[in-house]
Parts: sequence; C-alpha cells; structure tokens
Amino acid sequence: MGRVEMDQPEELRKRFAAEHGRRPRIFRAPGRVNLIGEHTDYNDGFVLPAAINFYTWVAVSARPDRTLALRSENFPGLAEYALDSPNNHRRHEWSDYVYGVALTLERAGKRLGGADVLVAGEIPIGAGLSSSAAIEVATGYALLENSGQPVERAELAKLCQLAENEFVGVRSGIMDQFISCFGRAGRALLLDCRSLDHRWVPLPEGLSLVACNTMVKHELASGEYNRRREECETGVHLLAEHLPQVRALRDLTLADLEKYGASLPPVVYRRCRHVISENSRVLECVQALADDNLDAVGALMADSHRSLRDDYEVSCAELDLMVELATGIPGTVGARMTGGGFGGCTINLVRRDYVDAFRSIVAEKYRQRTGRAPEIYVSGAADGVGEIDPRQ
Ligand code: GLA
Repeated sequence: MGRVEMDQPEELRKRFAAEHGRRPRIFRAPGRVNLIGEHTDYNDGFVLPAAINFYTWVAVSARPDRTLALRSENFPGLAEYALDSPNNHRRHEWSDYVYGVALTLERAGKRLGGADVLVAGEIPIGAGLSSSAAIEVATGYALLENSGQPVERAELAKLCQLAENEFVGVRSGIMDQFISCFGRAGRALLLDCRSLDHRWVPLPEGLSLVACNTMVKHELASGEYNRRREECETGVHLLAEHLPQVRALRDLTLADLEKYGASLPPVVYRRCRHVISENSRVLECVQALADDNLDAVGALMADSHRSLRDDYEVSCAELDLMVELATGIPGTVGARMTGGGFGGCTINLVRRDYVDAFRSIVAEKYRQRTGRAPEIYVSGAADGVGEIDPRQ
C-alpha cells in the first residue's frame, strides 16, 4: 500500500463524483505510532503516541434514505446497511468497522442520516499502525458531520473504541482512537488513560518517526491480546486482596509488587511487572524529552522493548531483529516494537539527516537475515481527524 500524494482529496472527490454525480465532503484520520507506553492503556495507565501522516480518507455525501452505501478503494464490492434495521451481524470484512461505528453512534443517541461513502486507506493493514482506529474515527467523524451532528472528539474516540470492543470483538484500549482524534503536528500526546487528561509533548526538532514493518502478521494476535488483558485483571484481583484500594495496575508500584506479588502465578507476576514499569517509563520519557536528553529517551525505549519481549511476551523474533539492527546505526535515538505486537512495526526515532542511510542499512540487513523485504515509513507527528477544506 503506497503513500498517497497530496492530491489525494481531489482525486477521491473526482472518483466519487464520477460514481454518484455529486461532490462529496472529504475527511481523513491518521494512523499512529506509540513512542512508549505499550499495553498500558487498558490498565488505566499512560501512553505517548503520535499521529503519523498516513491516513484513512473518506468521501461522503448525504442520501435521502437511512441507508449506508459503503465502498472502499482497497476492497471490491458495495456494502449496504439499513440504519432502520440495526443488527449485530458481522460480515467479517472491512465494512464491519464502519457499520460498527454507525451502530454505536446511533445507540449513543446520535441519529445518523443515510450516506454514500467511499473509503481510501493508505495505512498498511495489520502492521500495528492503527489502520482500524483510523477507519473508525474517519468514518465516525464523517457520518456525524454528514448528519449535522456536533462532533466531540473525546466522545468520538470512546464510541469508536466501544465499537471495536463490542462489534469487532477486540478488547483494545483507548490509545489508538484517542490519538487519531487528538494528534497534533510536531507533537506526541501524553495521555492518562484513566482520566483522559492529556497534553501535547513537543518532539525535538530534527527527529523523524520511522516505522519499520517486519512484514509479519501473527494470526493469534487478537486472542493473545485478550489473554494479556485477562492476565492483568487476574493480577489486579489478587493484589487487591492485600491493597483494597487498587482498581487497576496503574495503582501499583514495583515495591507493592515485590511486597505482595509472591502469591501470583509467575506469568501474571511478569505481566504486572511490565505494566507497572512501563507506566514509569512513559513519565520518565516525557521528562527526558523536555530535558532534551535523547540518550535517556533511547535507553527507556530499549528497556520498554526488553520488558515487552521478556515480561509481557508480545514481541517476536522479527521485531527483536528489527530493533537490534536499528540500534547499532548512527543517527538512531531509540528503537522498540510499537502497537499490540506479535509482528507489525518497530518505531525508531532517527535524526533526520541519517534517515536515508538508516533506511537502506536496515532494509538490506533485514532482507539478508530473513529473506523478507521490509517496508519502511518515514513521518513527522501529524494532526488528528478533520475535514479537508473543499478549496484545497
Ligand atoms: C493495540 C490496541 C491499543 C493498545 C496497544 C498496545 O494497538 O489497539 O489499545 O493496547 O495495542 O499498547
């Protein structure tokens, strides 16, 4: 899947108009990388993602009835849904994400009008860059606007997460939808996933966000993801016997874990240790960025990767290799896996002048070692969901 050039909105508009004879409105929502704070969101913890300038684009125009007629440039066929006959039936295809969001918005009391929709995705699917949150947020935003409903971003993020949890069936946290709504150019976002308090953290000048795709997708990923959540819940449940005020792993320190963790099954102990230590690393990383202490940022990213590999066990050989290859290259500030894991991408903070060299060295070495050609995506931190000005 290629990067789409800046004439994308105009091209999409033309293709939509050719099909429907009307000029659509155009919206887009970004994918994301997470700099640090992995598998902490559903533990009420901290995350530090940034939106990237790879988007899901949506062209939309109103219909007189209450039908959603959905097409995608990435998949064949027309998917039609009658909003007046809601059902929980998944078709196991891309349109589930859109319909799941529409259904969730309606159930939250937001009455939607019918719409012709054309989606164009440029975020690689299954690469851990959050293409699913991007299609949810882009279409949710577009459908609300198309129906004359006000959009409140935090509410939209929560409803898109709910759609993914209940309709698509993955118990994901709030991070991906939230950053797709709240991304800001040049900044990462520190989010407290309990209170949803957030603030933007400027990224040092001269650094690029480089995502390296291992090209590995692990089929087990969503089952393993839900299992990790259950293990965390078990940890909370057992530790709350000693510390009744504890509601989530967010409420614990490593000292608590050392003191009361002896009775935990060893796997659960390690899952808890990852989440508790990762929460501290997020806050330390924000401080290190503020101090312009890039060595500390790199060390925290390396610790995060090790913890995900050894304690949380969501890495894989290809992600470990990709991190190892990047770590030795001049210009690399930090490298770690990003997103849910079991394949997908690493995130690398790379000094801009070194990005070309980084790219060719990593691609070549990864190819030699695995026989696979990786895709490498370079981005700055981007803005969240929005409408494209029709004059553009
Ligand atoms: C996936 C989920 C997020 C988050 C990450 C791991 O991307 O969608 O909610 O849990 O995994 O940090």
